[in-house]
Amino acid sequence: MGTRINSFEEYLQEYKRSVDDPESFWGRQAESYTWTKKWDRVLGWDFVKPDVKWFSGGKLNITENCLDRHLSARASQQALIWEPNNPAEKGRSLTYRELYEEVCRFANVLRNNGAKKGDRICIYMPMVPELAIAVLACARIGAIHSVVFAGFASGSLSSRIDDAQCSMVITADGGYRGAKEIALKAIVDDALAKCVSVKRVIVYKRTGSPVQMAEGRDTWWHDEAAKADTRNTAEVMDAEDMLFILYTSGSTGKPKGVVHTCGGYMVYADYTFRNVFQYNEGDVFWCTADVGWVTGHSYLVYGPLLAGATTLMFEGIPTWPDAGRFWQVIDKYKVNIFYTAPTAIRSLEAMGPDFVKPYRLDSLRVLGTVGEPINEEAWQWYHENIGKGKCPIVDTWWQTETGGIMISPLAGITPLKPGFATLPLPGVQPALLDENGKELEGNGVEGRLCMKFPWPGIIRTTYGDHERCRAAYFDTYKGYYFTGDGCRRDEDGYYRITGRVDDVIKVSGHLLGTAEIENALNQHADIVESAVVGFPHPIKGSGIYAFVILEHERKDEEALKKEALETVNKIMGPFARPDKIQVVRGLPKTRSGKIMRRILRKIAGGDASNLGDTSTLLDPAVVEDIKAEAQ
Ligand code: PRX
Repeated sequence: MGTRINSFEEYLQEYKRSVDDPESFWGRQAESYTWTKKWDRVLGWDFVKPDVKWFSGGKLNITENCLDRHLSARASQQALIWEPNNPAEKGRSLTYRELYEEVCRFANVLRNNGAKKGDRICIYMPMVPELAIAVLACARIGAIHSVVFAGFASGSLSSRIDDAQCSMVITADGGYRGAKEIALKAIVDDALAKCVSVKRVIVYKRTGSPVQMAEGRDTWWHDEAAKADTRNTAEVMDAEDMLFILYTSGSTGKPKGVVHTCGGYMVYADYTFRNVFQYNEGDVFWCTADVGWVTGHSYLVYGPLLAGATTLMFEGIPTWPDAGRFWQVIDKYKVNIFYTAPTAIRSLEAMGPDFVKPYRLDSLRVLGTVGEPINEEAWQWYHENIGKGKCPIVDTWWQTETGGIMISPLAGITPLKPGFATLPLPGVQPALLDENGKELEGNGVEGRLCMKFPWPGIIRTTYGDHERCRAAYFDTYKGYYFTGDGCRRDEDGYYRITGRVDDVIKVSGHLLGTAEIENALNQHADIVESAVVGFPHPIKGSGIYAFVILEHERKDEEALKKEALETVNKIMGPFARPDKIQVVRGLPKTRSGKIMRRILRKIAGGDASNLGDTSTLLDPAVVEDIKAEAQ
């Protein structure tokens, strides 16, 4: 196993080493894995093209490091514990040997169904162990997985399948989320009406509800698994071969397929997992994120398995059957490390203390948060009520594009400050830039958060469109990776993320492009134009406020709003539905036709008293109208 930092002094030393000589630092971390062939060169990089290569010449398969490597020491240790949506249903668990065998079996299923190295496979599944098995089986045969969160609707699913030209989809008949059953296979059928690349659909039976199976295209997981055995030779991959694509929202309407590669991602996911959470042998680790997001990739599947940990997967939601569900699961499995999102904490806090009281929560040692800034009140509530005042909270800042945690305390080691992600991990070199691209030196400064040196988990490209990757992340500030976040470095050198500085918003921890929501709204026959902005929301972090212009007046405005919500629901999914829709006669535009979103954000946030400089507006009266009817 790789190294783990044990004290703050050691962190400072390691940090210095990682900056003074990154190649020997990361080379040393990479030593502990199974490589079919060792790398020739630790790092080659160029932030202009961009072109970053870690461990080039190295050959490996990440699943041999997640599974085979552990069989001698931990074959009968639990690798994955699964808790179903409904507490009345029995859970399941797989030991390292069982998980290894199921992954090998499903890897054979994939090969039997024509999949091979380099193929893109879309995974659209509920949170069941087979989701993790499917992910690992793809990696085992060298197919590139593209997991799409099963809350996305068919429009979002089909555009992601199409963009990656997936040849296969792995799905389930349906899934459970609280009291709801979601007909996943029907959504896939709908999405595939527009995707010609898909030749095969493998369907896992979860709910047993009837589904349509397309002759020659669709096949059942259990039928295929019955024909496959558990011996499988892992495909040998280059360190820089693609491991997965994961779509994330951007400023334009089209989602970006963030690409991660095998070697660097492996080293980074494992290193950050062990160090940030201070994982101890035997710990039960629970990350509540769905595998459809990067947090689920790195800290539900890959990170914990690389470290030989026991990872818990939960199918349900925090508030069903009641708001004590998370705490009940923690007691049931004696969870030691718990990692969730601020939005979940805020919503559970709002339910009142009675849902926490019945539970002991005494197995907990470390708490974590991710996905959005955590406000001090939620931090304190989490610390007192869940951590009983004794568990450190690691506020982990990172992104889909970073592959793993970048700025975060090391649990129990880094002195904490609520609301601060604290300090960069070893190997991470942040820089704060002002609007002119000048790097702000010293402490007590605020600017745009960038990175000036690569780390092994950095995005390599956006699938099928390298120029987009360059333009989105490496062009704004030459020679830097730009995160899209604002950030403050305080007098102690501690980092506090202040939020996005572009046109994406964080809604309940989900990153949503406002342009994507606008595109969906504009599909409604009566909407000619729309503008979407975020506004502060006590539980969700950001709420969604949509201003829409109609083709012609509608007397039944309430019905129109309902239809508009349904349109977004059908195209993107329920989590992208606006909280507020305001019908307007015009949008505040400059003479060159650009919408002044700054003004809309102020109005949406209920702070329209001082709109700043509005002299470039084409028609200032439009703003007065919007203000008068703002909700
Ligand atoms: O704005 C930052 C916010 O989430 C963005 C990345 O979103 P995504 O790619 O969906 O990945 C989320 C999970 C890693 C960042 O640009 N963010 C993430 N973590 C934090 C955060 N904002 C503040 N504090 C955090 N701990």
